[in-house]
Amino acid sequence: MGKLYGVIGDPIAHSLSPAMHNDAFSSLGINAHYQAFHVNRENLPAAIKGMKAIGVAGFNVTIPHKTAIIPLLDEVDPLATAIGAVNTVVNINGRFIGYNTDGEGFIRGLHEEYGQPVLDKRILIIGAGGAARAIYYTFGQQGAKQVDIANRTPDNALQLKESCPYLVETAAFTMEEAERNLANYDIIIQTTSIGMSPKVNASPLQLTNIRSDAFLSDIIYNPAETFIMKEAKKHGARVQNGMKMFAYQGALAFEKWTGTYADPKRMMKIVQERLG
Ligand code: ATR
Repeated sequence: MGKLYGVIGDPIAHSLSPAMHNDAFSSLGINAHYQAFHVNRENLPAAIKGMKAIGVAGFNVTIPHKTAIIPLLDEVDPLATAIGAVNTVVNINGRFIGYNTDGEGFIRGLHEEYGQPVLDKRILIIGAGGAARAIYYTFGQQGAKQVDIANRTPDNALQLKESCPYLVETAAFTMEEAERNLANYDIIIQTTSIGMSPKVNASPLQLTNIRSDAFLSDIIYNPAETFIMKEAKKHGARVQNGMKMFAYQGALAFEKWTGTYADPKRMMKIVQERLG
């Protein structure tokens, strides 16, 4: 009998995960199926109980359940506990164990495209929400040297820095300060929802001072090229969107479930095809 995997979220209809994981299962000859499940907040505890009862082998967790699921799991790994969000659950002998592969997925995708080790670079994260937390803490866990944070509400950036359980050299800035200091950074990471479809002509900050040898990574993948990416290119900087992060977080989840590392390039291709 094939194993069942899936993703829970609300909304979930447009998730690219089923196409990505089902392609990986069939290309690797693994007898399994990955299904999207629409679960609203109210039904989360019942959904977890039901998935355990029917023996779901593993699943992804997306908006709005990444934090709410934590008390419903049997065990949560230390990085995911620190981040306060789980995106991947593995069923081990009937126990649900939670992980977060978003930060590691991001860093792998960044490293691949950047072409050099990233941990000793001067890095700026724009935004201090859930996605920024996963990326910042994972940088901390991996031993990054300097990761600064700029945010509309500077207190939230400061809080992110102070709550991090790993040692990283970090300054918290307002957007205006970051705009002035932008030439200090090798890598700039955009983690807010600004520029996401449908309000595509927006940017969280001005790139006047970005260096031409800088690299800008936007975690948004719809649109495939955000306003801030276009601006960065005008200054000669290299850019990437969030498709790599998405593919790698998926490849890492797949590895936790099956012990096999799915080809992230193949996963990328599926995502690109679906997004057109
Ligand atoms: P996610 O979990 O996707 O990261 P989030 O937790 O809601 O989303 O975080 C949103 C981030 O985008 C925050 O850094 C937020 O800034 P504040 O801390 O000041 O709220 C930022 N953000 C959202 N809308 C913004 C806007 N219109 N201008 C500037 N920053 C914005």
